[in-house]
Amino acid sequence: MLDIVLKALNKIKSNLSSARIFIAEFISMDLALFFLFWFYLKDLSLLFILIILIIFLSLVLLYFIGCKRNSELEEIKGIINNIRKNKFSNSNEIKLSKNLSGLQEDIKKMFEKTKSDIEYLQRLERIRTEFLANVSHELRTPIFAIQGYIETLLNGAINDKNVNLNFLEKANNHTLNLNNLLNDLIDISMIESGEMKMSFRYFNINEYLRSLVQELMPMAEEKNIRLIYHPVNDRLQLFGDKNKLKQVLVNLIQNAIKYTEQGQVEVFVEDEPKFGKIIVKDSGLGIAEDDLSRIFERFYRVDKARSRAVGGTGLGLAIVKHIIEAHGSKIEVSSKIDAGSEFSFRLKK
Ligand SMILES: Nc1ncnc2c1ncn2[C@@H]1O[C@H](COP(=O)(O)OP(=O)(O)OP(=O)(O)O)[C@@H](O)[C@H]1O
Ligand SMILES: [Mg+2]
Repeated sequence: MLDIVLKALNKIKSNLSSARIFIAEFISMDLALFFLFWFYLKDLSLLFILIILIIFLSLVLLYFIGCKRNSELEEIKGIINNIRKNKFSNSNEIKLSKNLSGLQEDIKKMFEKTKSDIEYLQRLERIRTEFLANVSHELRTPIFAIQGYIETLLNGAINDKNVNLNFLEKANNHTLNLNNLLNDLIDISMIESGEMKMSFRYFNINEYLRSLVQELMPMAEEKNIRLIYHPVNDRLQLFGDKNKLKQVLVNLIQNAIKYTEQGQVEVFVEDEPKFGKIIVKDSGLGIAEDDLSRIFERFYRVDKARSRAVGGTGLGLAIVKHIIEAHGSKIEVSSKIDAGSEFSFRLKK
């Protein structure tokens, strides 16, 4: 019996305390009624009874308000608990009673935002793991090769005049690849951590491309590929970071040479009203439709074996994309298998 009374008292207390945010309004209303009755009623005993009645009615009202608030709070708590326990797979499963429909929309939005944040973090984590796996793999390949050559030399091949120089040269080539890979990795991490400092200036694109193509001529000649630069209006000045653009163009032209068996690589500029469009076009292997959207991913190579054989790690185009985006531009590519590829981007005039 006592138990039931205590429980009821506790319930009343909890409901009243839940409604306490309205206490100030109720006190002001009670005081207003008190002064009103006092002004009109001269009978003190009647006034006293009325005051008691008003206070009682106020408490009853506060109790019911508290009841309603408590049940709403319980409903919200239930939804939050279910979200915490991952019981909802999409926001449409979140349902609150009609009078909480405004809040329901806010909770749904919060749920969707948290869900997409978590998915984003999971994706980043996956990319990070994949990246680490790729880096380790790419490092291991040249290190194993160098180790192999050195061991063979130490085991006697050093005295074999037919192979010793050849092995040393091969080991040396692998150290060069290793160095290139590390430089690319440093670039990628600088770019992605936002530490890449850009220095934008206007420069004469004609002069710039002519000397760059000249620098890369020996590589093309070695493969018997014609590397052609079509000059543009000598007064054309474009806006960009010359050093970073050199990295972009060297990679694009080297790719064009590397992935072309015969024919030519052309470099030219289209003079548009507000931009200069720089184009590197080859008559090489081309890239299949499915690979086109992926070649800008880190470490993505269409043909891993072939790329590695020509000294590629698949970081070049990822760096190109970052640098071009830092210029507020976009790298574009069109390609056809066995017909060739065309990479281009625009720079502001
Ligand atoms: N002009 C091209 N013609 C055909 N395939 C290309 C061309 N340019 C790039 N690719 C393909 O895209 C892949 C990614 O190019 P990317 O420049 O990122 O890497 P890579 O040249 O293999 O290595 P890295 O540039 O890091 O030395 C290449 O491995 C190649 O398969
Ligand atoms: Mg490349």
